[in-house]
Amino acid sequence: MSDVDPVIIFDTTLRDGEQALPQSLSMRQKLQIALALEDLGVDVIETGFPISSKGDFESVSTIAGALKRATPCALARCVEKDIRAAGEALAAAKNFRIHTFIATSTIHVKDKLRKPFEEVMEMAVRSVKLARNYTDDVEFSCEDAGRTPIDELCRMVEAAIAAGATTINIPDTVGYTLPVEFGGIITALRNRVPNIDKAVLSVHCHNDLGMATANSLTAVQMGARQIECCMNGLGERAGNTALEEVAAALALRSNYFGGLKTGIKLENIARTSALVSKICHEPVPAHKAIVGSNAFSHSSGIHQDGVLKNRETYEILTPESVGFKGNNMHMTARSGRHMIRSCLQNLGYADNDYDLNDIYARFLKLADRKGQVFDYDLEALVFFTKLDEAD
Ligand code: KIV
Ligand code: ZN
Repeated sequence: MSDVDPVIIFDTTLRDGEQALPQSLSMRQKLQIALALEDLGVDVIETGFPISSKGDFESVSTIAGALKRATPCALARCVEKDIRAAGEALAAAKNFRIHTFIATSTIHVKDKLRKPFEEVMEMAVRSVKLARNYTDDVEFSCEDAGRTPIDELCRMVEAAIAAGATTINIPDTVGYTLPVEFGGIITALRNRVPNIDKAVLSVHCHNDLGMATANSLTAVQMGARQIECCMNGLGERAGNTALEEVAAALALRSNYFGGLKTGIKLENIARTSALVSKICHEPVPAHKAIVGSNAFSHSSGIHQDGVLKNRETYEILTPESVGFKGNNMHMTARSGRHMIRSCLQNLGYADNDYDLNDIYARFLKLADRKGQVFDYDLEALVFFTKLDEAD
């Protein structure tokens, strides 16, 4: 692994994201999302969990046959029938990845799997070997790695790589870890697992404490080279790492990551986010980073004045760079004269078409009454002021 390798973006909107939706998606809906993710520049698309239903098997197969550049992937427990189903569903593609996983934390091993850790390791090794009969691209995940004792995690990872896993994924399944802690797990794996360089290190962070993006990016700083994520941060419970957040952060703060890049076309983000939101019936929260409707809005008079003078005063990236048409200036009682004049200019009014002091005083009264004032309100103000003057 070299430091100039790109960061692989593995999207699991159609698997981890879809499993958390109140109603499942149809095959056509999944295909539409998969093709949009491919257009966005996603490297690996987790298309589903073929053993879970006939419908899922069919969608995995259809998507695998339709993708041209992105690698299709499917999930399988460390169970023979799961791996065979994944291999068969993905066979429609020339190159594909099987992603097999088993829990490794003490609580999961003891209370969920109810097996000795050694037996869990044997299941993992057997499953990775079986998956390698279908493809050279096998990912192995240690479910609940974030809460797994580090000695056990190192042993499991070493065994999975020796069995043929080419990607090792470290999930913070319950979103429990903090960035320094999660980064420490990646560092420990890199220092202690002798064959670690034979596999790509991946991370899969859940957002239960709102740390998913921070944990994923810290892991990249510590040597992870694949981030698993979902569009709009969909996923189990509080969701997964939001694709748009890690892609934008890696692009904008690239120097913090030794120049590492992703293949994501940032300018496609707004459109892909809207498509996923619409198809999944999951509205994007207004204040959601990068893709929320408020993410590029300016409300305070001081901010609006700054942005009108130089956008970079309050915009770290332009809305256009992630595919939005432009920023939004909310006209409220906090907006200043400069802002109102600029809005009137955009509406085609010259300075001598109105008296700014007069219009501004009327605007403030209206904004106090209404909250937000829109372009048509402003036009009405100018129109009725002129009528008053004519009387
Ligand atoms: O959160 C998790 O651990 C998962 C695995 C299946 C990778 O989704
Ligand atoms: Zn998950």
